[in-house]
Amino acid sequence: MSVSTLASDRSVCTPLPVLGRDIRVPLVTGGEVTYAALDYAASAPALQRVWDDVAAYAPYYGSVHRGAGYLSQLSTELFENSRADVAAFLGCREGDQVVFTRSTTDSLNLLAAVLPAGTRVFVFETEHHAALLPWERRADVEVTYLDAPRTPGQAVETLEQALAAREPYGPALVCVTAASNVTGELWPVRELAAAAHAHGARIVVDAAQLVPHQQVDIEELDCDWIAFSGHKLYAPFGAGVLAGRADWLRDADPYLAGGGASRRVGRGASGEVEVDWHEGAARHEAGSPNVIGAYAIASACKALTEEGFDRLAERERQLISAVREGLAAVPGVRVLSLFGPEAPRVGVFSFTVDGWNSSHFAAALSAEYGIGVRDGLFCAHPLVRTLVGGASSADGGCGSDEGAPLNAIRVSFGAGTPDEHVERFVAAVGELVRHGAKWSYRTEGGRCVPA
Ligand SMILES: Cc1ncc(COP(=O)(O)O)c(C=O)c1O
Repeated sequence: MSVSTLASDRSVCTPLPVLGRDIRVPLVTGGEVTYAALDYAASAPALQRVWDDVAAYAPYYGSVHRGAGYLSQLSTELFENSRADVAAFLGCREGDQVVFTRSTTDSLNLLAAVLPAGTRVFVFETEHHAALLPWERRADVEVTYLDAPRTPGQAVETLEQALAAREPYGPALVCVTAASNVTGELWPVRELAAAAHAHGARIVVDAAQLVPHQQVDIEELDCDWIAFSGHKLYAPFGAGVLAGRADWLRDADPYLAGGGASRRVGRGASGEVEVDWHEGAARHEAGSPNVIGAYAIASACKALTEEGFDRLAERERQLISAVREGLAAVPGVRVLSLFGPEAPRVGVFSFTVDGWNSSHFAAALSAEYGIGVRDGLFCAHPLVRTLVGGASSADGGCGSDEGAPLNAIRVSFGAGTPDEHVERFVAAVGELVRHGAKWSYRTEGGRCVPA
């Protein structure tokens, strides 16, 4: 089905209203167009519904926890209800904990901080840096980096072998992405979880790129923890989530020391400070909680659930087909993939264009077509370098590209993306490749900008 027939298909929803949908931007070639936000994988626009919910609550905003006033109590209830809503959205099990953090990065760093001493961590080199880097900072943790697999089956095999080679061991953790922020491809999380558990290891799933696109159920995936960010889930108010098993969180020192995490603080017999820390989520939420961020996430969870992930995913599948077919029809465009062109994916594509520096290409999409994409290595340097390999980056059209790092262009979309944005993007890629840029560009601070 072509993207232009979407509107007539009744099983498919229309784009959800998001903020900024009518913003007009100038083109270097003259005139202006509606901005096509196609960088959802970095940060998605706020859902109108989330914004409205936050605006309705804002006058009632008050300090969370222990405030005596009415608004403080209301805000505390809203914060704890948001936690319960997120737990329900993720299908949390009895005893699971939902900790509000700042982001996925923060959630995974929190988990790294609470690992029992001697934990062995297994992580694929293909991960986003947020999932790749936190573990190594613990001197008492051993990290095994696994090579990029070329099929989902190979991912499971590679993990199986690595786990088997390390047995017997004490605590172990596998960290894996559910959907790649580079290729958009889905990883076999259920199978990886089964492999981890079969070897006595636990698994944390970086679901930053999956939660905005598909229903995620922690029990069905049988994973131990899930991490994600509000700003990728249409709730850009500075909060994230770590949800899952309570025991390692309860047994470790608080992530941050301070008020909120401590239940009682006193002085010991020889003058030292003695602290009795909370055991629940509050243990790792020291400081004043981000009630608006938490509420915004809960609101987004409800909005997506009420709209229905089936309908959202069906629409996204059709946008994905349009992009996949559109890019395949343009000579010299190479879509980056680990698992092959037909692999199941979310609405994230990275690609290179022969003879084009990616920064130049992305700059032209913005300046001449009003399309916002991203170029670079997407905080997943090892993966992008592996996938880009020897692709040419030099086009001589944007200052000197000699020695420029090989990188890629990423287009990503979601529940708020109108058909027209995807159609404009596919047409623009074809036009740029066939006819070249209409404007000239120069390099400034390592980036291409219109001259
Ligand atoms: C797969 C994945 N994991 C983790 C992150 C980090 O998210 P945040 O920057 O919100 O901490 C991102 C962000 O792009 C991501 O795509």
